[in-house]
Amino acid sequence: MKKLFIALTLFVSVAFKAAADEGMWLPLLLGQQVYNDMVKKGLKLSKDQLYNVNKASLKDAIVIFGGGCTGEVVSNQGMIFTNHHCGYGVIAGASTMEHNYLKDGFYAKNMGEEIPGGSLSVQFLVRIDDVTKEVMDSLKGLSGQERVSRQNAVLASINRRLSDTANAIETRISPLFKGNQFLAFVYQTYRDVRLVGAPPEALGKFGGDTDNWEWPRHTADFAIFRVYATKDGKPARYSTANVPLKPKWSLPVSLKGVKDGDFAMVWGYPGGTNRYESSYGIKLATDINNPTLVQLRDMRLKYMFEEMKKDPAIKLQLADSYAGIANYWKFYEGESKQLIKYDVYGQKTKTEAAFNKWAATKPEYQNIFRDVDAAYAAWRPYAMHRVYITEGVLGSPLLAFASSLQGLNNTMVKAGVSSADIKKAVDAATASRKNFIASHNRTSDRNIIAAVMQQYYTNVPRDQQPLGLYDAIKSEYGSLDKTSTYEKYADEIFKNTMLLDDRKWNDFVRNPDATVLQQDLAYNLASAYMINYQSKYLPRYQQFQTANNEWGRLYLKGIMEMDPAKAKMMYPDATFTMRVSYGKVASYNPRDAVRYDYVTTMKGMLDKYKPGDYEYDLPATFLAKARAKDFGQYKDAARNDLVTCFITTNDITGGNSGSPVINGNGELIGLAFDGNYEALSHKLAFDKDLNRTINVDIRFVLWCVDKLGGATNIIKELNIRK
Ligand code: ARG
Repeated sequence: MKKLFIALTLFVSVAFKAAADEGMWLPLLLGQQVYNDMVKKGLKLSKDQLYNVNKASLKDAIVIFGGGCTGEVVSNQGMIFTNHHCGYGVIAGASTMEHNYLKDGFYAKNMGEEIPGGSLSVQFLVRIDDVTKEVMDSLKGLSGQERVSRQNAVLASINRRLSDTANAIETRISPLFKGNQFLAFVYQTYRDVRLVGAPPEALGKFGGDTDNWEWPRHTADFAIFRVYATKDGKPARYSTANVPLKPKWSLPVSLKGVKDGDFAMVWGYPGGTNRYESSYGIKLATDINNPTLVQLRDMRLKYMFEEMKKDPAIKLQLADSYAGIANYWKFYEGESKQLIKYDVYGQKTKTEAAFNKWAATKPEYQNIFRDVDAAYAAWRPYAMHRVYITEGVLGSPLLAFASSLQGLNNTMVKAGVSSADIKKAVDAATASRKNFIASHNRTSDRNIIAAVMQQYYTNVPRDQQPLGLYDAIKSEYGSLDKTSTYEKYADEIFKNTMLLDDRKWNDFVRNPDATVLQQDLAYNLASAYMINYQSKYLPRYQQFQTANNEWGRLYLKGIMEMDPAKAKMMYPDATFTMRVSYGKVASYNPRDAVRYDYVTTMKGMLDKYKPGDYEYDLPATFLAKARAKDFGQYKDAARNDLVTCFITTNDITGGNSGSPVINGNGELIGLAFDGNYEALSHKLAFDKDLNRTINVDIRFVLWCVDKLGGATNIIKELNIRK
């Protein structure tokens, strides 16, 4: 164990031979050779300027935005840039039909006009501690479920020790290299974050889902926020007495633009990758998990879009949830395609065969793939069922809310429960019901429920279905092969459920009765699916996960032992912890004879413009300024046009959205907002030729703010370098 610990610390801090631009490096452990390679490729900053625990450094400008994205500080008054799609929920939430900021955009002309972000928060990284030894010592000799439980307990206790709630200090330990290394990330959370500006959605989401995950792209995917703190710089809840945060570091902004081959680094919070997934995992994804998810999301999106198209109020109501579902619908569809196209399964089986040959004489490793084989064989028959629960049953907002009431039911039926406890649980349910109702659209959900019921009946193996459910439906509503049967049933639910009826719900609250809840048609249907799954199949899934963790950890340890030279070039999978990726601006060949330029321009955006289209319409003021080529200081001299987006070879993934793209001088040149379709296998296999990060050029952002938004106050606050 000890030896491994040392080896790990070494390989992340030592040698790295430049192979393409794969790698999401931990800034704490940026070894001299990685740093030297960055310098060779164009970095001008010192190591200390990048990351230093004791002095202000670039890392202090990078924040976790809203718990799932990245943001960066761009002024000495706490101004933050991120993506429009990261601020989307906040922008939609602040919008009404009268003040529709999602549709029309919004710019505060002074700090007084900024809009409180509600529950929005940002987190600054204070420091990173290596706690591998402490964790490993307490896990010695343990495996399987015992190890999982012990590890959870140890991490929770270290997290508590290193946190300080009074000062908004929160620590989260991240297991790296599949649990072969443990780093504690210490954050400080600021909860007064306000909306400063956003373009109209027509620009911020230009090209919609058709252009999503694709290059060439012309999207102004940016939004602007500000972090507030107490007068002495401490985190605090929203208060008019708060003042803009004085940050430790803020990024200057460069108007110099990009050239092919220019150095570019991306700092931020990549959410998750699994690049040492087994061939079995790849096969399960392409055979079952991905296609099932795509089909269920396809159906849900269709019914939601039908209603959104009809009515702008419904569009505003469903927009945020729709965007999230659509984003990963297209992602998983693309992931499957790329995995198959590049035969990632075949590549993995070869790697595994080589590993098995090496491991044949080593007791610790020789049985790994026998165990993987057994774990997948045991789980595979139930995999589709699980996706039907997570993406089907829980993909219906009504059934998801109904399922969330299982806890309430359990409280109510608990022996000896006090009426005070019941009241507490009922009040919590009433509060969450309020949020549910505000975002609920009945027509789309009715159609979704009917379709989920029918598809589940058709596709999930019969012997896994809840006992008696479909027989009962058949006897009351008709043939199980007819769509109308499920529609009738769904209509009945909507007519009767108390979850959608204020009067009935209030009656229930006044006199909470578990049987009333259990007999509610929505609750009843949801719990029929959930209890069946939770009692029979969830335990199998948990066993599968435990087995996966076990072999994954050993496999990675084995790989590093088998090939020490390769081990030195390894970076840990993304775990939503701060990483730096470096690469360069670069064009590419997506397919035979086709060349993609590394920038897009306003000319291309105007070419895509389709009046009245849902995804490619553009506002009149935009068209006027764009056609007049009123680009001012933001114009690109070489192209004699406004550059809109550009691509780089950086290795990023979801969570990096909003990340700064930084040049060799430490200046902001763009915001990363997407990955390209041809490399959508990137979570499982990085494509060294095709992988690109898609960025909005900072000059396009500032042109929107300045020339379209007239927000010169924002421009003046930036440290602009021409
Ligand atoms: N694919 C982008 C990401 O995951 C999100 C882009 C949002 N835009 C959209 N049209 N859905 O970061």
